[in-house]
Order: sequence, then C-alpha cells, then structure tokens
Amino acid sequence: MLIAPSWGGMINGLLTLRGAWDKVREDPILKFMVVAVTAYGMATFEGPMLSLKNVNAIAHFTDWIVSHVHVGALGWNGFLTFGVLYWLVPKIYGTNLYSKKLANFHFWIGTLGIVFYASAMYWAGITQSLMWKEFTAEGILQYPNFLETVTQIIPMYAIRSIGGTFYLTGVIVGVYNLYKTSTQGRLIAEEPAEAPARELIEPGSAAGARHRWLEKRPVKFALVSLVVVLIGGLVELIPTFLVKSNVPTISSVKPYTPLELQGRDIYIREGCNNCHSQMIRPFRSETERYGEYSKAGEFVYDHPFLWGSKRTGPDLHREGKKYPNVWHYLHMDDPASISPGSIMPRYTWLFEQSLDISTTEAKINAMRKIGVPYPEGYETQALNDLTKQADEITKDLQKNGAPVTSDKEIIALIAYLQRLGTDIKGEITADIKTIEPKEVK
Ligand code: HEC
Repeated sequence: MLIAPSWGGMINGLLTLRGAWDKVREDPILKFMVVAVTAYGMATFEGPMLSLKNVNAIAHFTDWIVSHVHVGALGWNGFLTFGVLYWLVPKIYGTNLYSKKLANFHFWIGTLGIVFYASAMYWAGITQSLMWKEFTAEGILQYPNFLETVTQIIPMYAIRSIGGTFYLTGVIVGVYNLYKTSTQGRLIAEEPAEAPARELIEPGSAAGARHRWLEKRPVKFALVSLVVVLIGGLVELIPTFLVKSNVPTISSVKPYTPLELQGRDIYIREGCNNCHSQMIRPFRSETERYGEYSKAGEFVYDHPFLWGSKRTGPDLHREGKKYPNVWHYLHMDDPASISPGSIMPRYTWLFEQSLDISTTEAKINAMRKIGVPYPEGYETQALNDLTKQADEITKDLQKNGAPVTSDKEIIALIAYLQRLGTDIKGEITADIKTIEPKEVK
C-alpha cells in the first residue's frame, strides 16, 4: 500500500524526464532532481520493508535505521531542496546562476557524501545486528560483551563522518553560490504573470481538464481532502477512546519513588536514551543478553516512555540491581575505566551538581494528573522519602569508598538505574505505598 504512491511518485518523476535525459548531463538542477527522486524511491520502498517483522528484527536499534533516514534526509529532502533553490533563486533575482561549475561541484561532493555515509551505516548496522544474534555451537552468545559489537564498527563511524563532511562542504559551497547569485542580480519586487512553461499533463486531455478543474478550487479541494483524512483518523482513534486502557497492567509494577523520578529526569536531560534502549525484544538473542523480555504493562508509569530507538550502548531495561551502586558510581564518572574501550561519555558534573529538589512536589502532581496513582496528599511527603532513599544509597556508596554526599545528582540517577526493570522480579527498590524505602544493594 505504502509502496504504491511512493514508487508512483518516483516513476512519475523519472518519466517526466523522458526525452530530456541528455539535459541531465548539463543541468545541475536536473542532476539534483534525479538523485532526489531516486533517493525518495529507495527510502520509501525501505519504509514498508522495515515494517515487516523479520526485516525489522535485524534492522531495529542498529545503524541500518540511521542509514535509511539519511538516504531520506540527505538524498531526497536535501537534494530536492538544493534543486529547487538553484532554480528559484536566479528567478527571484532576475539573473543567471552565479556558477554552474560550483553547482556541479556541490552535486558531486554531496552525492559522494551520501554514498559514504549510507554505505558505512548499512554496513555497521548489519554487522552489529549479526553480532548481537550470533550464538556459538554450544548455544551461548558469541559476543556476550556488548562493547565488542561497538568497537567492531568504529571504523564505519569514521567513514560516516567523512561522508557527512563532504555533504556539508557541498552545502557551504551551495550557500556561497546562491549568495553570489543574489548579489549579481536585483530582487524582482513583483513578478510579471507568466504562462506556465510546460503543461505537466497533456493540454486538452480529459486528465488535463480534471486537473485544472481541481486546481481552480483550492479551498474546496483542501476541505474535501480534510474530510477524507478525518474519516481515516476517526476510524483509527475512536476504538482507542472507547477502551479504558489497552495495556494489560501488572500488579507488581509500581510508580517511581520521588528520587527515582528525579533521576529519570536527569536521564532524559543528559540524553542517555539517544544511546540506550529500554526495550528487550522477545528474541532468544536478547533474553540471553539482557534478561526477561519487556512487557507493555511495565511502562504504564513511564511519562514520557524511554524505549529509545538506537543502541549505541546496551539495552538498560533490566539494568536494576545488575551491579552494585558503586559500579554505577565509578562507571558514570569514567566509563572507560570500568569498560575498557567504552565510547560512552563521562558525566563528571553529576558528581558536582546538587539535585534540584524544589521541583519534587510539582513532579508528583504532574504525574498524578496524567494517571500515575500516587496516593492523595503524597506530594507533601515526597521530599521526606526522597531524602531517606538518597541517604541509604549514599551510605552504601560511602561504605564502598566513594566520597559522595547525598545531595548530588548522581545519587538520583543511580536510584533510577537500580529500579529499572526490577518490578516484575517482585523486588521493588522502594514501594511508595509503604513509604519505607528498602535498602538498595
Ligand atoms: C554515546 C553513547 C552513549 C551515551 C550518550 C550514554 N551511554 Fe551508557 N553506554 C554506552 C556504551 C557504548 C556502553 C557499553 C560500554 C560500557 O559499559 O561503558 C554503555 C554502558 C552503560 C551502562 C552499563 C550497562 C551494562 O549493563 O553493562 C550503563 C548503566 C549506562 N551506559 C548508563 C548510561 C546513562 C545513565 C547515560 C546518560 C547519563 C548513558 N549511559 C549515556 C554508550 C552511551
């Protein structure tokens, strides 16, 4: 279904050039258009392909997706934009393009950039995915250390950055070219009405007449389109409004404690979810590596959800209680000292900055407003609980030699990490109903 209109669009675009292919060799605008339309076809063919379960199983969470979207962003959207600008700007300024040579240079360095970028990322994505899934003859993971699957593809990241630099160089040259074009011409205040250069659809044909009939009624046309889209939207939306919740809840899944809630917001602020997913798929290769696969009911109090979309680091959904607090303390301070070769950045400021606890009450209230069942009046007690849990973790860290005080942001982050995915193990780090944080190991 999705392939049909996109490939229709691509074929329509390419066939428009019928009999004019010789012009493509000379005209940089057409070159940009041809690559844009081809990238469009590729990206939109891949989109529905990726919706297939078995393709998605390989591609998801890897650089395959990064490649896919950049074919779209750099090739289709970018090149279409450049083609249009090279056509439009000279017209606006009543002049010719400043330099066809530079536009050609832009085209070739941009195309080369896309090829470098996309092929490196496809290669990296498929490599990493195969490594994640590889089992030995004995049935254990061939690469149990996630980091091995990252260091393997670092050369691909280098090629990617070369590709990106090429592309960016092209953009800068393009901006210069368009700027020079604008200064050599003069802004045309009001363009004289002009007959369309070429009818897209045969003039006089039935299709042409229908087309013009529609074009002359833009408002009606837009209204009818809106109604059609609304019908489609309502058919999808109404059933979800009629059910209270379509997620099976799990009784042992409880709301986050105030300290964990604060830690979660630090996780979001620092963008940890750009590198880490929290979604273990029901594949043997994932349950072996991470543990029990994720259930929808485990995320009912996650606002916003942090499933992530790319694993540059390992999945963290079952991270809770996997390591002692002090492991996280040292790892966050300097990941490479704990995991040699790690490309995770250091987060040293979390050890210096004090946690802003003035927001705690408001955060509890906000969560309750969107359906998290904190008991009535809990917000007034939240700060007490936060301090209590922070003290517990701090005591444990100090016992293990970490020079830390309980007011630092790192404490909240560790509280959050230690909670992740533990609810269905039946050992909640702190139950907000009993308000009695258990000791966090
Ligand atoms: C640039 C990508 C990147 C970012 C951003 C990132 N990480 Fe990581 N993370 C990694 C990689 C790669 C590893 C695996 C190597 C290691 O242990 O350091 C990792 C490992 C981890 C681990 C250990 C997982 C395990 O079970 O062994 C934790 C916990 C973790 N990261 C937490 C975080 C938190 C919290 C943040 C945000 C403050 C964060 N990461 C930001 C890349 C990243």
